Amino acid sequence: MKPDTLARPVLLNFEDEQHGAERIAQAAEMDLFRIERHRFPDGELKLRLPPRLPERVVLLRTLDNPNEKLVELLLAAQTARELGARHLTLVAPYLAYMRQDIAFQPGEAVSQRVVGRFLATLFDAVITVDPHLHRVASLQEAVPVREAIVLSGAPLLSDLIAERRLRPLLVGPDAESAQWVALAAMRHGFDHAVCQKVRHGDHSVQLELPDMAIAGRQVVLLDDVASTGQTVAAATRLLLTAGAASVDVAVTHALFAGDALQVLRDAGVGEIWSTDCIAHASNAASMAPAIAAALSGLLCATARSATLL
Ligand code: R5P
Repeated sequence: MKPDTLARPVLLNFEDEQHGAERIAQAAEMDLFRIERHRFPDGELKLRLPPRLPERVVLLRTLDNPNEKLVELLLAAQTARELGARHLTLVAPYLAYMRQDIAFQPGEAVSQRVVGRFLATLFDAVITVDPHLHRVASLQEAVPVREAIVLSGAPLLSDLIAERRLRPLLVGPDAESAQWVALAAMRHGFDHAVCQKVRHGDHSVQLELPDMAIAGRQVVLLDDVASTGQTVAAATRLLLTAGAASVDVAVTHALFAGDALQVLRDAGVGEIWSTDCIAHASNAASMAPAIAAALSGLLCATARSATLL
């Protein structure tokens, strides 16, 4: 990196997120540098960052399949500090480990708290999209960094649904989804409701439909995340049995673990739409402009407060 570019913040990315990183870098007008990653035969990792870094550095890492990526963050963030970074921002469009927010059984790790605090030891700021915050009021409570910025995919998904479906009925599969369903519905005045859900295991959920007329409606199931797909599949089966004309699925985070897509197809789901927080064939809306705008605001404020010091 040339000395005259050291004042400009940079975006660091990993190779497997190159396309998403380019979209964000372009929208935010930031220089993009790739972290070189080597995996040794025994599974250990070696990372290589640009040898000199400016004071403000942004690291992009979406945290699906998070376990190895958390080690990458540890190595990358501490190395970035050694190479000159003084203000480090993590952009994690998908923030993992947010669902385990209490000990459901005595002795269970409260992963949200543990991972959140870990990230806060590494980063000054975090930007994420629709984190699964259920029993905590704010992202900062879960990830206690100085600046914790939450964006939502719901408005984008709402626009997409408005383009593709006539008078849709938005349905959230469980109580937690109510926040995103309400946001998306308000934007275009869609009818909306949420189901009741009881989870019995990783692949076993029981749902109850909201008490409203479903017959003949074009239903879109909206949620923050689909993982095994069992939640939206169960909702789809009930909705089709209740006479829905069609059931499509819109999620912010396309985790779709294992055979989830087949589970959805077998249940009778029509279209599947997601944002690009996790790269997936279902991506239909890009969060890059919103992430870039959040980054620009954050980095300007950081530069201003550094000048005042
Ligand atoms: C949980 O409340 C989330 O919002 C999702 O509904 C859930 O994680 C989906 O999981 P799965 O696809 O495995 O049913």
